Amino acid sequence: MLTGGGDCPGLNAVIRAVVRKGVERHGCEIVGFRNGYRGVLEGEAVALAPGNVRGILHRGGTILGTSKLNPFREEGGLERLIGNLQAAEVDGLIAIGGEGTLGAAARLSEEGVNVIGVPKTIDNDIAGTDFTFGFDTAVQVATDAIDRLHTTAESHNRVMVLEVMGRNSGWIALFAGLAGGADVILIPEHPFDIDDVCEHLRHRQSEGHLFSIVVVAEGAVPRKGTLPMPEYDRDEYGWPKLGGISTMIAEELEHRTGFETRVTILGHVQRGGTPTAFDRVLATRFGVAAIDLAAGGRWSRMVGLRGITVVDVPLSEAEARPKYVPEKLYEVAEVFFG
Ligand code: F6P
Repeated sequence: MLTGGGDCPGLNAVIRAVVRKGVERHGCEIVGFRNGYRGVLEGEAVALAPGNVRGILHRGGTILGTSKLNPFREEGGLERLIGNLQAAEVDGLIAIGGEGTLGAAARLSEEGVNVIGVPKTIDNDIAGTDFTFGFDTAVQVATDAIDRLHTTAESHNRVMVLEVMGRNSGWIALFAGLAGGADVILIPEHPFDIDDVCEHLRHRQSEGHLFSIVVVAEGAVPRKGTLPMPEYDRDEYGWPKLGGISTMIAEELEHRTGFETRVTILGHVQRGGTPTAFDRVLATRFGVAAIDLAAGGRWSRMVGLRGITVVDVPLSEAEARPKYVPEKLYEVAEVFFG
């Protein structure tokens, strides 16, 4: 088993579930690779028995460590992965991660390695599952932040711009914005027009509401030709290293409306700390389902949630496309804009 990519609350619950069900019910031996694919490349593995996973259910992060290392960009990556898995006498690999980790797992599966995927991201943008664990926790943290921003915004008659994570999709921004009563929500699925945002703020002002809350997903983009497109460095998997678009938005809003504006970038606070009860339960169910698939020899599958049922789908589904916020859901949020 390995945990790869950005960490997320609930990873330890998956690890615990895989070990407890795997060892106690299926009679498996479980090893955990350290720091994602780096541990497989470097042959760094630890034996995991039920005693090693006591007391971790409620802990954020991952006891195995993680990294964003893309093994296929390393010299002889594929051969080293396969060689080290064979050397450790691994029958199958449970890869817990997001698009990059699951994409690499799918590639390994094409090369004949037995693999099971467990989807993980606070962004909730992986296809093949209605929800990923970690998302609920991130939404709760962001909602708490909005509640706190409300009282100070109201006291000072300010516009508060809150930036949350969400690279391809605006799930966190949308859910937290709805829960926190945001006055505008900007998400990557809907390129925004800064004039429209200003209009919403002016409308609120004209109705006597002298403060506003604007929630921005880090991947939000301006409509073409309205504002300069932000540029970002790229990570190991080629993803832009986002963060900071809210500063540009806040400056524009203040400049165009004259309303005093402040920015909060929530950053990694929303990825850390203790998982919510929902995330602990979902992560536990995913872990149990993943080891059941492995024990049954049902490889190249990814576990997922459909409604209230844990299902399994082809592993390739995870990397086929991101799961975007449906139009209908954004329309619900728009009811409360301005
Ligand atoms: O896990 C995905 C994500 O949360 C994105 O929303 C964000 O852009 C990224 O992680 C940031 O991760 P890091 O700073 O660890 O590279």
